[in-house]
Amino acid sequence: MGNETLTRRIEGRAKVCGNARYVDDIRAEQFGSDFDHGIIVTSTKARGVIRRIDSSTAFKVPGVLAVFTHENAPRLNKIISLSMAELADIRPLQGPEVRHYGQPIAVVVAESPTAAREGANLVAVEYEDDEGDTAFSLAAAEKRLKPVKRAGMAPGKISSGNPEQDFEASPVKHDAVYRNAPHHHNTMEPGSAIARWDDDGGVTVQAAVQWQHVDTLVIGQAFGLGLADRLPGFIARKMLGSEISGKVRLKNTLAGGAFGRNLTMVHVLLACMAAKAHGRAVKISVSREQCFTLFSFRAEVRQRLRIGAESNGKLKSLIVEPDVAAGIGGSFVEPVGAWSCHIYNHESRHLQHRVARLDTQAPGWMRAPGGSSAMFALETAMDDIARDRGIDPLDFRLMNFAESDPESGKEWHSNRLKSCFDQGAEAIGWRDRYEGGTLRNDGRVIGYGMATCWETHFQFPASVRVRLTEAGEGIVFATLAEMGQGGWAALTTLASRSLGLPREAIRLETDASNLPAGAGAIASTGTYSNGVAIHEASMKLHRILRRLAVRDRKSPFYGKDEDAIKFEDGNLVGDGNLWEPITDLLSRHPKREVEATATTGRTFGRSRKAKATFGACFVEVSIDAITHEVRVEHMVGAFAGGRIIEPVIAKNQISGGMIWGLGQALMEESTIDERTGRWTNGNLAEALIPTQADVGKVSVILVEDDDPDHPVGMKGLSEIGVMGPGPAIANAIFDALGTRVRHLPIRIDDLMGEAA
Ligand code: MOS
Repeated sequence: MGNETLTRRIEGRAKVCGNARYVDDIRAEQFGSDFDHGIIVTSTKARGVIRRIDSSTAFKVPGVLAVFTHENAPRLNKIISLSMAELADIRPLQGPEVRHYGQPIAVVVAESPTAAREGANLVAVEYEDDEGDTAFSLAAAEKRLKPVKRAGMAPGKISSGNPEQDFEASPVKHDAVYRNAPHHHNTMEPGSAIARWDDDGGVTVQAAVQWQHVDTLVIGQAFGLGLADRLPGFIARKMLGSEISGKVRLKNTLAGGAFGRNLTMVHVLLACMAAKAHGRAVKISVSREQCFTLFSFRAEVRQRLRIGAESNGKLKSLIVEPDVAAGIGGSFVEPVGAWSCHIYNHESRHLQHRVARLDTQAPGWMRAPGGSSAMFALETAMDDIARDRGIDPLDFRLMNFAESDPESGKEWHSNRLKSCFDQGAEAIGWRDRYEGGTLRNDGRVIGYGMATCWETHFQFPASVRVRLTEAGEGIVFATLAEMGQGGWAALTTLASRSLGLPREAIRLETDASNLPAGAGAIASTGTYSNGVAIHEASMKLHRILRRLAVRDRKSPFYGKDEDAIKFEDGNLVGDGNLWEPITDLLSRHPKREVEATATTGRTFGRSRKAKATFGACFVEVSIDAITHEVRVEHMVGAFAGGRIIEPVIAKNQISGGMIWGLGQALMEESTIDERTGRWTNGNLAEALIPTQADVGKVSVILVEDDDPDHPVGMKGLSEIGVMGPGPAIANAIFDALGTRVRHLPIRIDDLMGEAA
C-alpha cells in the first residue's frame, strides 16, 4: 500500500525525498526578494490591559531591527471572515487590551530567526488587571450560556412534533449528559508566512492556507485594498467565479497538516502588518507552543441527550441540548446537533445549542467539527439502550434504520449504511465475537463496540480554469490546498478522466495568486467541489475541440458529425477508426492551445434528495485486568461515500481520521489552568496524541456507492473517519468491563475500581 500511495500522490515523491517545499523551505530566490524574520510575543495573562511595553532591551540584541506593538503597528480595517474566525472581532495589535492567554502583543523583527527569538524574550510587559470575572471552562461559565440560532453552517435550533410529551410517555427513556474535552490541532508544520509590500501598493504573501480566496479577502479587507467597501455583494460575486483583486497576491504552499486549523490564521495577518511597517519583506514563524494559543482548536462540548423509545425499541423522540464553548471572538459555534437528527427514524425532535463565550482564543474548525461530539453522545446512548433491552447493538441500529432523512423527510440520494454494517461486522467478526469481559490468557479482558457514522454532503462554489496545449498537456488552474489529504492526486485523476488524457499529461497549478476562485480544502468538500468544476471546464474544452476538428480541412474529422467525437488517451476518436491526436489538431490552431473556465456550485449543491456519506465503525479492545490500560486491538471502518477516485489515498486519509478518533477516545484533552487561563499541556511534550505504538490494526473498507448518472459521482469522504472510534471504543470498554463512561477522553482512572 505504501508504494502505491507515494506514486499516486502528486507531492508524494517530493515529500519522501525531502524536496517538498513548505513555507519554511522558501528562500529569497523563490520568494522574489530577501526577507527579515519576525517572532510573535504573546501575552502571559488571559485578561488585562497592557500598561507599559518596553522593547529597549530587545533592541540591544545584535540584529534586532524593529519591534511592533499596539502602539506602532498598522491600523486594520474591519474584517468579515467567511471562515467565522475570531480575527473578525479581535484584530491583532490594535489596542492594549488582552483578551486571552497567549494573545499576540508584539512582533520582533530581526536579521535572523535567532536574533528575533532572543529579542522577543526580552520585550518587557507590565499589565494592569482588569476587574472582570474570567471563565475558562463550561463548568465555570454557567451564567454565560445563551441559546443560539446558528451553529457553524448548521441550524442551532430544530424542533418538530411534541418531543417532551413523547419522551415523558415513552416506556424506554434514556437521559444522560455527555462531555467532550477541548483539544488542539497538532499539525506537523507549526506554520510560517512571508509577506512583502510591492511598489503598486499591493502585498505578496506566501502561506499555507486551506481556502485561498477567503484569506485573500481577509487581507484585502484588513488593509483596505479596495475590497471592504464592496462587501458582501462583492464576496458573493467573487466567490462564484471571477478572479480576486490583483492587489492581494496570496500564494498557497503545501501544508504539513491543516484539517481546519489553516483557516484565517493570525500570523499571516501579522506578517503583512510587520512587512508594511518595516518597509521590507518579513517572514513570521510560529513556535510549537504558540500553536496552542494562536490558532483554533476543538471546543469543549457538554450535551444532555434524551431519547424516548417504544418498548419494542423503536425510537420516538430525540432531545439534544448541546452546550458549546466559544472564545472571545469569532462567530464559530461547534455544530453538534446537526448530526444527531439524521441518523435514525424518530417521530419528534428538539435541538437547541447554547453557547458560552470563554476567555480563551476562539475554538474553530477541526476535522469532523460537530460530528465527532454528536456521534459520541448518540452512539453511546444507542449502545446503552440496546444493552439495557438485551438487544444486540447492531440489531438495534438496524431496527431504527432511517429509510429517508428523518429531519428533512427527503428521500436519500443513496444510502448504503446496511452494507457498511454488513461488511464492517464481517471484518471484525461481530456475529461470532467472544463475549465481552472474556479474560484472555495474557491477562487482558476483551470487549467489542460499534458506532454508526454519518456526514452530510456539501458543495461549495468553485471556479476552475483548464488549458490544453499543443504539447498535449492538460493544465488545471485550481486552488485546492494540499494538506496531506491527497486532494491533488484525486483532482489529477479526475481531470485525466474528464479530459480523456493520460494521468501523466495533467499538471495542477495551485500556487499562483491569480487563480480563479476555487473551493477550499474544507469540510470534506474540496475534491468534489473543485472536481465538478474541472469536469465542466473539460466538457467545454471538448466542445471547442470538436468544433475545431469538424471545421479544419486538415483534420480527419472535417465535415463529420461533431457529436460523434469522443476523447480517449489524448486523441479525438470517432466512428470507423477515425482518430487524431489532440496535439496534431492544436498544432494547426493559431494559439496552439485552448482554455475554458467553469464555475459550479452556485446553489451549494442543493437538491431534492438528501445526500450523505454513511459508515460504520467496529472495534475490539483489550484491557489489562490489573492496570486497566486500554489497547485498541483492531478498528474497522466501512464507509459508503460515493465514487472513489483514488482508493488507496482515500483509505489512507480515512485510517488517519480513525486514528484521530482513537486519540479523542483515549488521549486528546487540552487542560486549562482555571486561575490563569493558560493551557497547562500546551506543548508536544505534554499533549498526548496517538503514536504508532498506540494504534493496533486499522482496516478501512470502501463500500460500493457509485452514482453512475453523475459525471463526478462523489460524496464527501474525509472527516467521517474521525467520528466512529470515540463511541465505538467507549462501547467496547463497557462491553469489556461494564463501566459506562460518558466523557472523552476515557482515562485509566475512569476505569479503576470497577472491574476485575
Ligand atoms: Mo476541515 S474542519 O476544514 O478539515
